[in-house]
Amino acid sequence: MEIVLTGSIAFDYLMKFPGYFKDHILPDNLECLSLSFLVESMVREPGGIAPNIAYNLTLFGERPRLFATAGEDFAVHRDVLEGRGVDTSGIKLIEGEFTASFFANTDLANSQIASFYPGAMAAAANLSLHDLEGDPPELVLISPNDPRAMVRYVAECKESGIPYIYDPSQQIPRLSDDELREGLDGALALFVNKYEFGMVQNRTGLSVDEIREMTQFSVVTLGEEGSLIYQKDKQAQIPVVVPDKITDPTGVGDAFRGGFLSGYAHGWDLELCAQMGTVAAAYCLEQEGPQGHSFTPAEFVDRYRLHFDDRGKLDELIV
Ligand SMILES: Nc1ncnc2c1ncn2[C@@H]1O[C@H](COP(=O)(O)OP(=O)(O)OP(=O)(O)O)[C@@H](O)[C@H]1O
Ligand SMILES: [Mg+2]
Repeated sequence: MEIVLTGSIAFDYLMKFPGYFKDHILPDNLECLSLSFLVESMVREPGGIAPNIAYNLTLFGERPRLFATAGEDFAVHRDVLEGRGVDTSGIKLIEGEFTASFFANTDLANSQIASFYPGAMAAAANLSLHDLEGDPPELVLISPNDPRAMVRYVAECKESGIPYIYDPSQQIPRLSDDELREGLDGALALFVNKYEFGMVQNRTGLSVDEIREMTQFSVVTLGEEGSLIYQKDKQAQIPVVVPDKITDPTGVGDAFRGGFLSGYAHGWDLELCAQMGTVAAAYCLEQEGPQGHSFTPAEFVDRYRLHFDDRGKLDELIV
């Protein structure tokens, strides 16, 4: 299945301060606040929603296509992604811009001071899905990105009759009530966590039943309580796979989506897809960062079968 992933591409600059920010904030001098923290470590990790989900799909042998904007500093990351089997032909480099960058400084209490610079992501709305070369995609994922771009891709999928999964997540506060409703209406599926599902209902005024009528299915992830799949006439709750340890929750939602989509690309039933998402999420939780985990399809299938029953379907992943 030709899956096109739209969403942010970013670099994460992660720093650690070996002290406590609160010890250096003078409440009586806030009007001339001036602070600089000498940090003891910094890593630059390539990330962003679309590459994170793509990474997980490649672990299953899929070759997803990214459709997004990145800056002049992206070239090295493109090689890495291509090396892993991601089709980067749909990524447009924006001259004179940096790739979207997230700068986060964390102290010993896990307090964080962060800034996000959208950079090239701000140009994502200039891209048109109609300009994608080759056959039209069989499925488009619309994940957090420049809000104008998300609105445009929804409209273009509808115009061209391309099934899309609406995954507005972190960008819900930046979309208007009408834009959210437009995104939902006619989507193949809605993909959100529990809190976001509440926000979507609140903002659009739609009930769970009305959302079920508008989409083929909805997937709502519930953190350590698992996930829920709503279809028009039935629903199912999928329990979690308890990870061996929780090292870092970053990227767990993206890992779930990657596992889910790889099942979906095989045409498997939604429960099996969500179970695959659950297992991929457990792998992600055990390692640092959204792309720190890894597994071969055979390892994945063995682990899956410790918890769930696929009636032999996952054999297809191994051959
Ligand atoms: N503590 C946990 N133990 C086991 N599995 C978990 C845990 N937390 C999350 N998961 C798995 O990951 C899935 C997605 O988690 P969650 O609902 O927290 O996503 P999210 O809030 O979108 O995460 P993100 O912060 O990455 O955006 C869950 O449905 C579950 O399968
Ligand atoms: Mg999320």
